[in-house]
Amino acid sequence: MHTDTPATATPPGPWLHQVTLDDLATHGWSQQNQFLPEELTLALAAECRALAASGVLDFAAVGRGAAQALRPEIRGDRTRWLEAGQSDACDRYRVIMETLRLALNRAFFLGLDNYESHFALYAPGASYSRHLDRFRDDDLRTVSVVIYLNPGWLPEQGGALRLHPRGELARDIVPLGSRLVLFLSADMLHEVLPATCERLSLAGWFRRRTVI
Ligand code: OGA
Ligand code: MN
Repeated sequence: MHTDTPATATPPGPWLHQVTLDDLATHGWSQQNQFLPEELTLALAAECRALAASGVLDFAAVGRGAAQALRPEIRGDRTRWLEAGQSDACDRYRVIMETLRLALNRAFFLGLDNYESHFALYAPGASYSRHLDRFRDDDLRTVSVVIYLNPGWLPEQGGALRLHPRGELARDIVPLGSRLVLFLSADMLHEVLPATCERLSLAGWFRRRTVI
């Protein structure tokens, strides 16, 4: 007698809601509030501010290779890449993102095999013009992720992430602490609007395997 293997409904992970995955599949983007525990958001925000105070956040460049340049009028954030073992809070965050990577692979067979992430700090007035997260010479970035580190942020403080889904009206997402935003790196034009106060986030990218 032949029996099919029962379809086991594997939950996407302790923090990720199924609807977040469904929305990403349907619309090319999704968001989920309270993705990080509040105390982890606060620890990460404190770490980002401490890195800024010790002068190790650098203005992010635009473009790649020889064309790379600092253009603060296009991109005004200061960033620092995360490294394994840099702090307890960052390591906890990396474990959570690993759970997310596995959930995305289970749901969509995307073959995501690594994650890169940086702290980003936008001073008041800083912004990031409309762009795609893929480089012309590197199409491995597949899913973009932003997690905000601004507890109690109000819409009137500005700093929204403005998504431009193809063929749809633009959507503004308030950078409220612990909120997760996911979108497909290849397709989603987006920009960061200026804010009236310091805006903190962790931006990251799940990348596909390098095909040699
Ligand atoms: C980026 C970016 C969005 C945000 O870093 O590429 O688009 O809301 N960030 O911080
Ligand atoms: Mn971007």
